[in-house]
Formats: sequence, C-alpha cells, structure tokens
Amino acid sequence: MLWNKVFLVLVAVSMVTLLLTWTMDGFHLSFFSPCSQPSPGLKPKQTNVVFLKTHKTGSSTMQNLLFRFAERHNLTVAFPIKECGHLFCYPRSFNTRFVHPGTLPANIITNHMRFNHDEVRRLMPNNSAYITILREPASMFESMFTYFKEVCESFKKVPNGSLEAFLKEPQRYYQPNEPIMAARNALTFDLGGDKDRPETDAAYIRDFVAEVESSFSLVMIAEYFDESLVLLRHLLSWDLYDVLYVKLNMRAAGSKLSLSPGLTAKMRAWNYLDTKLYDHFNASLWRKLAALGPACVAEEVSLMRQAQESLMQSCFGDRMPQLRSGKLIKNKRLRPWQPSINIDIMGYDLPANISDGSSSQVHELCLKLIMPEVQYNNVLLDRETQRFS
Ligand SMILES: *[C@@H]1O[C@H](CO)[C@@H](O)[C@H](O)[C@H]1NC(C)=O
Ligand SMILES: *[C@@H]1O[C@H](CO)[C@@H](O)[C@H](O)[C@H]1NC(C)=O
Ligand SMILES: *[C@@H]1O[C@H](CO)[C@@H](O)[C@H](O)[C@H]1NC(C)=O
Ligand SMILES: *[C@@H]1O[C@H](CO)[C@@H](O)[C@H](O)[C@H]1NC(C)=O
Ligand SMILES: *[C@@H]1O[C@H](CO)[C@@H](O)[C@H](O)[C@H]1NC(C)=O
Repeated sequence: MLWNKVFLVLVAVSMVTLLLTWTMDGFHLSFFSPCSQPSPGLKPKQTNVVFLKTHKTGSSTMQNLLFRFAERHNLTVAFPIKECGHLFCYPRSFNTRFVHPGTLPANIITNHMRFNHDEVRRLMPNNSAYITILREPASMFESMFTYFKEVCESFKKVPNGSLEAFLKEPQRYYQPNEPIMAARNALTFDLGGDKDRPETDAAYIRDFVAEVESSFSLVMIAEYFDESLVLLRHLLSWDLYDVLYVKLNMRAAGSKLSLSPGLTAKMRAWNYLDTKLYDHFNASLWRKLAALGPACVAEEVSLMRQAQESLMQSCFGDRMPQLRSGKLIKNKRLRPWQPSINIDIMGYDLPANISDGSSSQVHELCLKLIMPEVQYNNVLLDRETQRFS
C-alpha cells in the first residue's frame, strides 16, 4: 500500500517536472490547466488587449507582463506621443491624438490613461479584451498618500505629512482640480468617472459600476493577483509562461505606514466611490473563481509559482537578482523611477560582476522580467518607431 502511494507521488512529481520543462520549451502542453473548463489552448491566443493601468495597484507588474507578451508574439504596443510623457496625457481624458502614430496599428495598450471607452474603441481592434485592476481603497489610499505627499497639492500642506491629520479634516486640504488625481476616489477617476460625485447620488454609482462592468471583461483584484491571473489566462487562452512575473515598483517596508482599523475605515469613507467599486468587483472576482472551481484555481496558482521559480532559475541560475533600494542600484537600465528622495522604491539589481556593463550575460528577455517600466517603455518605443520610420 505504502509503496503504491510512493509510486503515485513519484509519478505525479515527474509529470509536473515534465510539464514544466515542456512549458519552458513552449510546447503545447503548457496550455495544460487543472481547471478544464473553459480550457485555455483550445482557442487561439487572444492578442488584442486593452489594459487600463490604474495607480498604485500592482499595475506596473501587469504592464511588464504585457510588454513581454508583446515582444514574444511580435505585437505592437501603442505608446503616447512625446508631449504626453509616459502617460497618455493623464489626467486628461484619453484621446486617440495622444497616441504615437509610429506605434499603430496596435494590439496592446497599457500605459496610464484616464479611460474613455469611445476613444479607445476608435483605436483598438474590435475584438480587444478590456482588463483593469483595482486595489482595496484603504491600502491604496495609504500608498497614494505616502507616494505623492510631497508632490500632490492636497497632501503637501498637511502638517507633518501625517495621514491621520489629513483624514481628520480631509475637506480642509483637498483640492479637487489639481493635476495629480490621487487625493480622492482615484480608481473612479482613472476609469473615467466623476470622483467628486456626492455619496448621496446612489443612482450615479450604480450606473457607473454597470458601465465599468459592460466595458471590461475582467477586473483584476490586486489582493488576489495570482488568482486574477488564472482568470486572465482562461479569458485570453494564454499559456502558463505568458502569465509569469516578478513583482515591480514596490515600496520598501520602511516607507509603508501601519494602519489602525479606525484609519482604514476613514480612508474607505473618504474614498466612498472607490469602495463601492472595489467591493462590487471583488465579489464578482470571487464568483468567477468559484465557477472555475476553488481547488483547481489553487492548483493552477501553485503550478504558476513553480513555473515562475523554474524560469528565474533558468534565467539567473545562482546569480539571482537582488531586491534592493532603488537608490542603490547602479545599473541604469534597472533603476526604478523614484517620486522623491524620501520614498524608497525597490528594484532588482544583478550581482556586481553581471551588472557592470555586462548584463548581456543574462538573456535579454530575462532582464526584461526585472526592468522598470520607464526603461522598458523606451526600449519598445524606440524599436517600434524605428520599424515604422
Ligand atoms: C517574430 O518575428 C521574428 C522575426 O521576424 C520571427 O523569427 C518569429 O518567429 C516571430 N514570432 C512569432 C510568435 O510570430
Ligand atoms: C470596428 O467595427 C466597425 C464597424 O463594425 C468598423 O467601422 C471599424 O473600422 C472597426 N474598427 C477596427 C479598429 O477594426
Ligand atoms: C508635528 O510633529 C511635531 C514633532 O513630532 C509635534 O510636536 C507636533 O504636534 C506635530 N503637529 C501636528 C499638527 O501633528
Ligand atoms: C473579497 O471578497 C472575498 C469573498 O467575498 C472576501 O472573503 C474578502 O474578504 C474580500 N477582500 C477584501 C480585501 O475585501
Ligand atoms: C562573479 O562573482 C562570483 C562571486 O563573487 C564568482 O564566483 C564568479 O566567478 C564571478 N563571475 C565572473 C564572470 O567574473
């Protein structure tokens, strides 16, 4: 009996190993999913994607994943014109005029924008999948406050840069028309909604939720990122390799505030529209996961994490990228953008003798796994505009 069990375990382990090896080789089995319904891989991969990149939600990690997908599949990513910076002239409402003509016709659009469905529809293929990501509003607001407190008008004048002080009298500091839209209902704003619509207008928020629901095929949830990726993979018929990632653009632990339950409630109350949106779409995410089957979702998440580890191993071997403060990263291609000297954004560095100008020892697509968004953006933009000019 015992030996039977041992044998079964061995068979299972070697199946998984084989599967992962094949996955890395890009074989068809990489479409394998423990969740057989609907099974990815039976349909061709969906390659036209609109990803609305919201602020401080893990969206940089998603953007990196989409950039790599685009590179591997020879797809074109729409980028902003120079005048718009790396954002599509955010916080203005998206307009097709903000798109660099050398990056058209596009398969993927993922840089920050304020969503405007009609304009995006004019630009992107009709069969595009629309995806976005939301984060729990209190933790998101804390992140916004810490990240933007020295640049955002609404936060600058708060005594001691104290989150408590802001939340005690938010109306005293809040400036609704400043250029950085971080101080209230930022998710609603990014999605194209009216961030200052009063809470008493219940019809507005109900209609707005319905509008987001009809525009987007998948609303990912940052707190359940891997589970969201399982849904994404099924929706787009992508293989396991397509959804592997390394977390990017995080703050160092020292730059995060610890939150009391009272403060959390205040942040949710101040961001009442975002809270309604979040609660609605978190519930629908869990309904979709339940429909797929919790056991197979868990299995698929664990398969994804194992594949991620194998990928890192095959990319970097015993010279794993090291997570460290952005300030300390010498390699310019790997140093993340810092909003101010007082906020510590983490990035990845390679061990000294690799990063000294000889990063070519690491396969280019491996390096892209840890490349910050601004640098990666520029690499793709240069390549696309050269190709078209
Ligand atoms: C992408 O383009 C390269 C070079 O033109 C080609 O070798 C490769 O097969 C293409 N890949 C896909 C997935 O189309
Ligand atoms: C989308 O469909 C409409 C009408 O069905 C067509 O006029 C338009 O050119 C299509 N857009 C794209 C980008 O294919
Ligand atoms: C600001 O910080 C100083 C020193 O920690 C403290 O004495 C003061 O009361 C704080 N002010 C407010 C408004 O919190
Ligand atoms: C999201 O929804 C699930 C299922 O209803 C719930 O258990 C979880 O607490 C929610 N998460 C957050 C952060 O609200
Ligand atoms: C890089 O450094 C490691 C440890 O410091 C060393 O073992 C390795 O030989 C070095 N590699 C090269 C190419 O210099």
